[in-house]
Amino acid sequence: MMVYLLSGVILALMTALALLLSRLYAMKLHYKDPKKDKSPDLKKTWAKFDELLSSLMVIHNLGVVGAGKTKQSEFFQTALDNACDLVNSSRGSIMVYDEQARELKITASRGISREVVETTHIKTGEGIAGRAFEKGETIFVTDPSMNPQYKGFMGYQEQSEPFISIPLKVKEKSFGVLNIHLAKERSSFSDYDLKFLTILGGETAVTLENIKLYESIENFYLEMVQTLARIIDAKDSYTGDHASRARERAVRLAKELNMPEQMIRYVEYAALLHDIGKIGIDARILLKPGKLTNEEYSEIKKHPVIGYQILAPIDFLAPVAQMVLYHQEWYNGMGYPEGLKGEEIPFGSRIVAAIDAWDAMRSDRPYRKALSREIAVEELKKGAEKQFDPKVVEAFLRMEEKEFQEESANSKK
Ligand SMILES: [Fe+2]
Repeated sequence: MMVYLLSGVILALMTALALLLSRLYAMKLHYKDPKKDKSPDLKKTWAKFDELLSSLMVIHNLGVVGAGKTKQSEFFQTALDNACDLVNSSRGSIMVYDEQARELKITASRGISREVVETTHIKTGEGIAGRAFEKGETIFVTDPSMNPQYKGFMGYQEQSEPFISIPLKVKEKSFGVLNIHLAKERSSFSDYDLKFLTILGGETAVTLENIKLYESIENFYLEMVQTLARIIDAKDSYTGDHASRARERAVRLAKELNMPEQMIRYVEYAALLHDIGKIGIDARILLKPGKLTNEEYSEIKKHPVIGYQILAPIDFLAPVAQMVLYHQEWYNGMGYPEGLKGEEIPFGSRIVAAIDAWDAMRSDRPYRKALSREIAVEELKKGAEKQFDPKVVEAFLRMEEKEFQEESANSKK
């Protein structure tokens, strides 16, 4: 809670300051006094404002990016890139303390060789980064190679470059460091650089804490939701692990379709949860082996809406709830619950629809045996443009063919 509050306050302050500065900046644009414009002092001041403004925007954006539910690893890279851009540096790293190994390891880097990234492990108190981490204080060294206590900790090339190491702290406890190298020609960081880097370090730490919290909440929900998915599988008529199989396939198919990473996760959850609404359907209808009456069928048809109602209140599953709601829609508009057509149906729902159908065809059902691979492929092809999105079918069959070839190659070995 505290972390959210702190982050909120910092963000609000940054926004207010950035707004103020951008107003000043706009005033400057309208105010054209040739005499004053020529004054070198004023020019300098405005140049400083320019610099200040862009630095503040960088820090502000970092908070915004962090608030956007990014993964920890991506966030570290963004934070580092921002820090390097801020001081025009082509080289830097973020190191995080590994509690088990009791070492600092590089988790994001710029301009550092892969070998150095993989082999650099620094103990608390060692080198500049290890000392900054241990003391919880920023350390700036103009020429580390002149300082014997730091020798040997940073790789040869970097030794004589000005170097700054800023601890990343939450509640006064360091969890890592932000390291920036400057080009040799620049002998020092300016006061502004130092201040901004320090603020950026603080913002990085706070935002990361938010992301961690968010990820743990997400994991908690996911576990809960997986439990629910297992309950549906147990209740539904066919196969014990339908949901988890559908989940794996959906991820592979979403990758095959080059979807962005966040969308892949949504599709993954949607595949896992698409039939969650069956929880609300009478088991006697779900398990009925024979033909369903019209009333029974319309009961079953409620499951996407029930699923949507279960998932919609969970904030981070909102896009998933949409995909679940429309997973029984047909590409030609003949599906339910709303009769959406083609591109009106969320892409994730179209993926889940194809995967669900495939899994149903390939499983034994109470009233028939599983279909062979060949027949299932034909059925899916026949369904393109009608029940399924042809693009999805094409990608699915491409993926299925690849896997089939791999499996047959493996079984021959
Ligand atoms: Fe369904």
